[in-house]
Formats: sequence, C-alpha cells, structure tokens
Amino acid sequence: MSKEKQGVLGWVDERLPIVEFWEAHLSKYYAPKNFNFWYFFGSLALLILVMQILTGIFLTMHYKPDAELAFASVEYIMRDVNWGWLIRYMHSTGASAFFVVVYMHMLRGLMYGSFKQPRELIWLFGVLIYVCLMAEAFMGYLLPWGQMSYWGAQVIVNLFGTIPVIGDQLALFIRGDYVVSDATLNRFFALHVIAVPIVLLGLVVAHIAALHTVGSNNPDGVEIKKNKGADGIPLDGIPFHPYYTVKDIVGVVVFLFLFSIVVFYFPEMNGYFLEHANFEPANPLATPEHIAPVWYFTPFYTVLRAIPNPFGGVVAMGAAVMILFFLPWIDKNKVKSIRYRSVLYKVNLAVFLVAFVWLGYLGMQGVTPMRSEMALRMSELYFLFFVVLGVYSTNRSAFYYIKWFVIIIGIISAYDLYRSNAEIAALVWQTWLVPVAFLVVALLGAAFTNLDQDKTVPERVTE
Ligand code: HEM
Repeated sequence: MSKEKQGVLGWVDERLPIVEFWEAHLSKYYAPKNFNFWYFFGSLALLILVMQILTGIFLTMHYKPDAELAFASVEYIMRDVNWGWLIRYMHSTGASAFFVVVYMHMLRGLMYGSFKQPRELIWLFGVLIYVCLMAEAFMGYLLPWGQMSYWGAQVIVNLFGTIPVIGDQLALFIRGDYVVSDATLNRFFALHVIAVPIVLLGLVVAHIAALHTVGSNNPDGVEIKKNKGADGIPLDGIPFHPYYTVKDIVGVVVFLFLFSIVVFYFPEMNGYFLEHANFEPANPLATPEHIAPVWYFTPFYTVLRAIPNPFGGVVAMGAAVMILFFLPWIDKNKVKSIRYRSVLYKVNLAVFLVAFVWLGYLGMQGVTPMRSEMALRMSELYFLFFVVLGVYSTNRSAFYYIKWFVIIIGIISAYDLYRSNAEIAALVWQTWLVPVAFLVVALLGAAFTNLDQDKTVPERVTE
C-alpha cells in the first residue's frame, strides 16, 4: 500500500513505514467493542504525562535549583512570569490528577483481572511506572524548597537510614550531605527533570507495546482474539481509530473541565494538593508541627507508621508496594472480570478499597492511640486482600479454607499478644475483631456457603 502512495506521505513512507504503524496501532488495531467508563483512564494518563512534561519545561525556564534562590524563583513564577501562575498550578494540580487517574486505572485492572495471563507484562510495566511516578512526585515536591518540601524529604530520606548495615551510607548517598541541603536539591532537580521522565517515557512505550502485542482485556474479561471472523478480524473487535479515538475525546473533555475547576478555583485544594506549610521557605532550624506527605502517599505512610519498629515499618511499607508486582501470580483464578467472580471476591475487593482509603485518611491525621491501632488493622486488611486472593485461587475444599482461617488468625493474634501492654490492651483486643470479622466472612463464608462460586463466563462480550 505504501508503495502506491504519492506525494510527501509516499516519499516518507518508503523511508519510514508510518502508514504501517498507523494501521497496526490505530486504524487496524482491533479493540473490544465493550469498553466502558473505566477505559478512559489509560488515555487520560497519557494526556497528563504530556501535560506534565510541557508545563515542566516552561517551569524549568524560570526555576532556580539553588537552596538560596529556589523558593523565591517559584514566587517569581507565580507573580511575575507571564502566565506563570497557570503553568505552575497546572503542574502541581497535574501531579495530583496523575495519581487520581492512575489509581482509577489500577482499580480497573483489579476489577477486570487485566493483570492476568497473558497481560502480566503490561501489569509489571504498570507497577514500575507507578513506582517511578512516586519517585518523580517525591523529588518534585522538594523543588519549591518550602517547609514541607524540606521536612518531608528529610523524613523520607531518613527512612533509608533505618536499613541495617548500609542505611546510613545509603541516606548519605541519596542526600549528598548529612542533612537535606543544596546538594540534595541539585540532584533531585536533575533526577526530576531529566532522568526519571526518560525512564517513565520508556516504560510507557513498553507498557503500550506489550498491550498491543496481546490486545486489550475488557469488562467481560473475554479474550476477543478467540472468536475471529473469516477475515481474521475478532468478531467483538472494532478499529481503535476512529471509534475509540473519538470516544476518548469525551473523556478528555470531561477531565479538562473538572481539572480546570480545580486549577482555577481550588489549586491548593485546601492543603491537600499544595500543603499550607509549603508557602513558608524551608527552615532547617524549625520543624513544622505536623509533617505529612501529600495525599497520594498517605496510605503507604500509614502502613509505615503502623509498625512501631522503624525498620519494620519501612519493610511493611516497601512490601505494600512490592506485593503489587506479584499480583498476576497470586490471583490464579481463571475468571478475570468482577462481573463473573464470586460474591466473596467482591467483598474482598470492597474491603481492600475501604482499607486503602482509610489508610490514606489516617496518614493525614495526627497520631492518637486509637488511630495507631486502626492504622495496623487497615494495614492488615490491605495485605489480607492478597492473602485471601491467593487462598481463593487454589484449592476449594472447606478444610482448606478453615486451615487458612486458623493459620492467619493465629499469626495476627500472636503479633497482638507480643505487642500488647497494659496501656493499649483494651484497644488491641477491641480492634482485633476487625480482621477477624473479615476473615470469618471471607474464609469461613467460603467454607460453609456457596458464596465463593464464580458465575459462568460467556463466550462472547455482552454489550
Ligand atoms: C503513566 C502512567 C500510565 C499510562 C500513560 C498508561 C497508559 C495505558 C494505556 C493508554 C492503556 C490502554 C488503554 C486502557 O486500557 O485504558 C493502558 C492499559 C493498561 N494499563 Fe496502563 N498506564 C499507566 C499506568 C499504569 C499502571 C500504574 C498500571 C498498574 C499498576 C497499569 C496497568 C495497565 C493494564 C493492566 C492495562 C491493560 C488494561 C486492559 O486491557 O484491560 N497502567 N495503560
């Protein structure tokens, strides 16, 4: 086809197969015809990635990565640079919007089993993207050199210091100094502006290349490639372009509308997107009263605080992120979509979501004995989601469920006995009921009822 093309397109196409690329990835790339609302978030994530890079380039033109000048240069951008306030608020709000969109995108993956065979690599690249995004946001937050930038970085880098043997050297290596300083600001700037974005872009390309190799999943979790017509085209597929390019525009318009409301009317989101303490310049001699990370980190921050031993907390927090990598091998149930999964699976996912949001909420609050207890209980529910998924994917005899019920309650109770003391005993045993109630429903429910039965998955997509 390219050979017949005339003019500039024909000339270019003979040297670089752009028509072939366009067809393979857009006009002849067949996507399931039943994509719903949840499938907007991939293209929205791409949109925000581009927006962050563009606004970032303009911010870099005026920002000064110097501990003496950084705070003032951001104020200069906000007050004196033409449209600087808009670019800066788009970038800072964009960071939060990125996480909103990526969390929705990940939730879609959980709901429709999009991480399962044959899409494990798409998921793995996704989790790597997520880890890079966290690093990118963390380093970006230091750049305005406000109080929370400074102390947030101090607290997080110190966490690396709790690692036995290598901790101190590692923290020193990250900071480039004994405290967060100008050296830290310079390296975080280099990493935030150049290194991590390059890695992110590479990972996003790999993510989409892997997706286009195996094809998209869909809300029914049916493999459309298994039902092809005589022409070799999936019967339940439609060309990505023009159908989904046009449909995605709807998502983009709605997103931009909501995004503009935040940028123009609530850019700080009452301290959730830009914390109040960050409007004061960094002061290494005055610790803010309440140091808390931005909302998208708070679920993991709470897991960290739930374990009194600092290194234990770091391990738990790391495990909370790392466990996502293993999801395709933890949940081996063949049924992908939540539409056809058992009632108990839905309960498990719902409890996981509540626990995640609750962890996020607790991370924004000061510490009280009750909140510390709930931090531990919600962390337990977070990890139990994966444990229960693993249990559900193997054997299905009543004995098997009861065995796991006894083992897990045993481990939770043993840790409670170990950590309980006269001061917190009452709280420990009251809140002990939280994981126990969940396990009664999730595991004994599976042993003694048929609520663990999945539904039959249809041959073809349903809408
Ligand atoms: C910069 C961030 C990201 C971008 C730009 C991005 C982009 C995309 C795009 C364009 C798609 C295809 C459209 C769609 O299915 O919505 C997709 C699919 C997918 N993404 Fe991402 N993604 C990102 C982060 C993530 C993360 C953090 C995860 C999970 C940890 C993830 C997991 C997946 C999965 C499993 C699919 C296949 C979905 C299906 O076929 O049902 N992505 N991604």
